[in-house]
Amino acid sequence: MRDPSQQYNERTRIASTLSPSLRRGIVAALLAAGGLIGSQSAFAQESGQQIFQKACAGCHSIGAGRLVGPDLAGVSDKRSEDWLIKFIRSSEALVKAGDKDAKALFEEFKMHMPDQSLSDDQIRRVLAHIKEKGTGATASKPEPAAAQAAAAAARPDPNQVQLGQDLFEGKVRMARGGPSCNACHDVRNDKVTSGGILAAELSLVFSRMGKQGLQSVIASAPFPAMQVAYNGKDLTEKEIAALVAFLQHVEKEHAQQLPRATGLRMFSAGVGGVIVLLGIFSLAGRRRKNRSVNQDIYDRQIRSE
Ligand code: HEC
Ligand code: HEC
Repeated sequence: MRDPSQQYNERTRIASTLSPSLRRGIVAALLAAGGLIGSQSAFAQESGQQIFQKACAGCHSIGAGRLVGPDLAGVSDKRSEDWLIKFIRSSEALVKAGDKDAKALFEEFKMHMPDQSLSDDQIRRVLAHIKEKGTGATASKPEPAAAQAAAAAARPDPNQVQLGQDLFEGKVRMARGGPSCNACHDVRNDKVTSGGILAAELSLVFSRMGKQGLQSVIASAPFPAMQVAYNGKDLTEKEIAALVAFLQHVEKEHAQQLPRATGLRMFSAGVGGVIVLLGIFSLAGRRRKNRSVNQDIYDRQIRSE
């Protein structure tokens, strides 16, 4: 079993294999088309709350528990402002620089938070918002691990999975006209039409983000390209639930697909071999039988003559 963070990095690498510069180019074009949502200048005038809503809320709550990332209530009591600014700008860079706290977070969450292109001042505004909103908020305890595991183990409703797949592939249109997910994303699954390679491959995203985290990320995507794509075309609750169920299902299948594929290959090689052998046997048998029948008739005919 490989370590999940390694899988994540590998996936990220796979997602960006086909010319990272092309991928960046597409994202840049989307950003330009969408009015530079997510860039420093887009946030120049926005309040800490607005920035938080657009760039952070998909992954973090302030006092309502863990989503994709940790609950941020009280984070300024725990970390220095200097550390927070560095971490938010690039947690990966901080990990690479050997920062112990950043490493511990990465190990716990098995992913790097995406780098944020925000100025020091913008980050300070966001931190002020987190502080203001987090004061007095009693950080709710994260769901117990057992409950989370039980939720993850429950089989998603097959009807939801099917709807989710149809929405993902664009066979069913999004109610509010947003694009299908496979315009940009792929999932590695034999039954799903291959999708785009602009963005991450999503077949292992469910367990990494968790059900709630994934719901939140899809509902208010903290990624500029997705914000542009779904601007004014929010997904409905039903669509989100179906997509989450689909991604949960895909992850389950993914775990089985590789071994099953090799198993199947070995099985069919076996069946092929058996068919060839049976063919040889029956041919040989038929020839022998034919000969003997003919021989019998021949003999009888000889006798009766
Ligand atoms: C795609 C999801 C995602 C987005 C978007 C995101 N974060 Fe994070 N964040 C994470 C994850 C996952 C971690 C923990 C793992 C890591 O990065 O090492 C984290 C960790 C953090 C931490 C460290 C918390 C601690 O306990 O020390 C802070 C602070 C933080 N994020 C702030 C922000 C802010 C502010 C924004 C918006 C500008 C933001 N994040 C956007 C996923 C996200
Ligand atoms: C216009 C392109 C585009 C479309 C359409 C799109 N996404 Fe994304 N999505 C992105 C980008 C870019 C990212 C940022 C991470 C990356 O580069 O893969 C992202 C990130 C994500 C992530 C986090 C992935 C990770 O590993 O951190 C999830 C989950 C996700 N998208 C789900 C969806 C779903 C579900 C749909 C369909 C409703 C969708 N996306 C449609 C471009 C898109």
